[in-house]
Amino acid sequence: QTVVPPGDVIEDARRRDYLKIAAVSVAGVGAGVAVLPLINSMNPSADVLALSTTELDLSAIEPGMAIKASFRKQPLFVRNLTPAEIAEADKVPVSSLRDPQTLEDRTKEGKTNWLITLGVCTHLGCVPLGAGEGENRGPFGGYFCPCHGSAYDTAGRIRQGPAPTNLQVPDYAFTSDTVVVVG
Ligand code: FES
Repeated sequence: QTVVPPGDVIEDARRRDYLKIAAVSVAGVGAGVAVLPLINSMNPSADVLALSTTELDLSAIEPGMAIKASFRKQPLFVRNLTPAEIAEADKVPVSSLRDPQTLEDRTKEGKTNWLITLGVCTHLGCVPLGAGEGENRGPFGGYFCPCHGSAYDTAGRIRQGPAPTNLQVPDYAFTSDTVVVVG
């Protein structure tokens, strides 16, 4: 019969403990790898969001109306300008503007009545009023930011208050007379 010296018994026990710890660590890493794709699928990456588009049917938006939609998790304003609102925007000398742009610069050719902008104030990012029924459109008839009083005109251009630039116009294209794809 072989007699195992006491030192070897202790060494053996240590080796078993080490193997157990190693096995648990590998299982832990495995679980992490398995869970990550699930988390990612619940929270679309910035890349996926940056490529997303919003399609809108504008046929129910009468002249003078504006609606709030959503584009890449941000508010989007779509407004059907009346001839009077277009004339109001066109009569402003562009050189007098803080961020000089004409209504034509900010809309598509032949469709200057459709003003499509992000609904995000360019000061500190509040959502301006004016795209909901009966909301205060401010002194220039466009949009009004209640946070610090920035007022935009009927072309979405900054006319008063601390916002440095006009409401941003996203990329968009008309795919038919009344359908637009933003993004
Ligand atoms: Fe709109 Fe400040 S965030 S005026």
